[in-house]
Amino acid sequence: MSATTLPRERNAKLFFKRWLANPLQMGSIIPSSAAFSRLIAERAQWEGDEMVVELGAGTGVVSRALLAAGVPPERLLVVEIVPEMADHLRASLPGVKVVCGDAFELPEVLRAAGNPRVGDVICGVPLVMLPKDAQTKIVAAMLAASPKRGFLHLSYCITSPLPKALHGLKGGRLAYTFLNFPPGGVWRYAPAD
Ligand SMILES: C[S@@+](CC[C@H](N)C(=O)[O-])C[C@H]1O[C@@H](n2cnc3c(N)ncnc32)[C@H](O)[C@@H]1O
Repeated sequence: MSATTLPRERNAKLFFKRWLANPLQMGSIIPSSAAFSRLIAERAQWEGDEMVVELGAGTGVVSRALLAAGVPPERLLVVEIVPEMADHLRASLPGVKVVCGDAFELPEVLRAAGNPRVGDVICGVPLVMLPKDAQTKIVAAMLAASPKRGFLHLSYCITSPLPKALHGLKGGRLAYTFLNFPPGGVWRYAPAD
């Protein structure tokens, strides 16, 4: 079986295995559904030579939805901390820049990639359970990468997964779907005025 035709079950198996190993890092027991992934991808913005940056790509379901929504593979940079998943992403997303690394080191990741102009940053890393100082660090890195647009965040929270006042953010939920387990929302945050 070729890496590009990996069935959903194998994605789910890899995901579940990692959830057993580190549930907080994974944040979910299965990858986002096709419907949720599409909902996210349809809200991603980029123009010209900007790169879309996806943090916490998992098995690449959102990455694939971004490609289907028209992001050219060479304009997509994905970061995933789990080496086995990064290998899977490399094998199944030809042309996409896959970095096996820590989303918290985004400035270094972008520097190593030649400091591209960045469109949207899409954060799939579960932020809600993180200590506030860790949230502050990753929020600052995402805003530095895309100061005008801010960033998209996928979350299962009903209320804002990030405390907006604490992080100097404005924004809110753009979309929500029950066609995911658990039901999920797409949030956009930008610096407060
Ligand atoms: C909720 S899953 C989302 C996966 C995928 N985007 C999806 O929607 O199915 C979170 C992903 O973030 C990754 N992750 C967690 N912490 C990370 C970090 N600090 N840097 C990069 N990736 C991280 C996990 O390994 C996992 O693949």
